[in-house]
Amino acid sequence: MKQDERITSDFSALRLSRAPQSKTVLTPLASATAGAVASVSPPAPSGSLLNTSTSAHSSPAHSTTPKSQNRSSSAKFTPLALPPPLPELNPMHGEFKFDKKPTPNDFEMLQVLGTGTFGKVRLVRHKASGKFFAMKILRKTTVCQLRQAQHIRNERRLLLQYANHPRIVHLYGTMQDAEHLYMIQEYVAGGEIFSHLRKKGNFQVPTARYYAAQIVLVLEHLHANNVVYRDLKPENLLLDANGQLKITDFGFAKEVPDVTFTLCGTPEYLAPEIILNSGHSKAVDWWALGILIYEMIFGFPPFFDDNPFRTYEKIVQLRLPFPRTIDPAAKDLIKKLLKKDKTERLGCLHGGTADVKNHPFFRGVNWEALLLGTTRAPISPVVRSESDTHNFEEYAEEDDGPDQEMVANMSSEPGPDSDPSCFADF
Ligand SMILES: Nc1ncnc2c1ncn2[C@@H]1O[C@H](COP(=O)(O)OP(=O)(O)OP(=O)(O)O)[C@@H](O)[C@H]1O
Ligand SMILES: [Mg+2]
Repeated sequence: MKQDERITSDFSALRLSRAPQSKTVLTPLASATAGAVASVSPPAPSGSLLNTSTSAHSSPAHSTTPKSQNRSSSAKFTPLALPPPLPELNPMHGEFKFDKKPTPNDFEMLQVLGTGTFGKVRLVRHKASGKFFAMKILRKTTVCQLRQAQHIRNERRLLLQYANHPRIVHLYGTMQDAEHLYMIQEYVAGGEIFSHLRKKGNFQVPTARYYAAQIVLVLEHLHANNVVYRDLKPENLLLDANGQLKITDFGFAKEVPDVTFTLCGTPEYLAPEIILNSGHSKAVDWWALGILIYEMIFGFPPFFDDNPFRTYEKIVQLRLPFPRTIDPAAKDLIKKLLKKDKTERLGCLHGGTADVKNHPFFRGVNWEALLLGTTRAPISPVVRSESDTHNFEEYAEEDDGPDQEMVANMSSEPGPDSDPSCFADF
């Protein structure tokens, strides 16, 4: 079989799903294993964290089961120029505020919109105002058992801080009760880019360019504030009713002025320096953008395998397959973003984000209009009402307890993140 055919047929199973639990959260325990990825091919020993956090039933992108049943150096960064101040907010954001801190009883809980590694997101109706929101609900014990308290606190703080960015999902507030944490977000009704992509198979280059450019604007803003996002993937990119992109899930976002070593992300989107645990920073987002543009154009990511360990191997070996001819500028950009050495990666060079924006792939892009979402979007989702959920998959009402395999492999050492009282300010 020719290489091209093999790649295409391998990916036929990918069209449907990616496991919600495909997100990788690795503690330093895994780093030794991860460090071996470059040279060792056998699967991780059963029970190792690296294996577990991405193991078969929480396996990556290649299952044929629907998503609902199955599946987040020293680089020489020159300080980036601050992006221009944000334009007037989307008026929808400004117009609603809760009079007082809401409580869970103030909301009617409706359909599940999505499930993630640490909780679920529901459509909810605020009883007093009749307004609809998306509520991310996390069980405190799960968050603590999986040592994610710091990540959740970061998510809350950063979403509040960047709530005014037109391309970042708006967080209206947070609340808690004895068992759960709640994040009240704007409901982005057009569905995940992931679903649109799987439905279409792949995007035309102009569509990929449109959404890639909107992501560049988000990364530009976050990076200028030393925030690395770390979980770029089509599941975290939503379309509003006008087809404009909104990025959600700041669960792994973090202020990183220099480098960090926490190993987290989603297998197919991990940069080599995360897998090799050599310290990572903003460069991982530019790598992930390269993966995303590739996945949008071809319909599947460049590096994947049923065995996540081999996915990591393919990433660090950087055998970048181009299964068919594509737009030369797109190919050139992907190659420049998927540089193994982060000091050579576009976005991390002297020109910073401007190098990415000035790449020929983005020629002709009206950045300001894209930021505001005032240009006509390439996808027009059908949204019939404020509470229409048909763009989201249907999810079974199941227990929101933690993945026991993941818990079993987390360190049992008590730490600041293992005590539910650490959410005092939520
Ligand atoms: N504001 C929103 N409006 C509509 N749907 C949303 C919103 N936020 C999240 N969702 C849906 O819920 C899903 C899970 O949300 P999110 O990614 O924040 O959770 P998570 O637990 O961090 O997920 P994962 O671990 O799989 O990355 C999203 O992929 C999306 O389908
Ligand atoms: Mg997510």
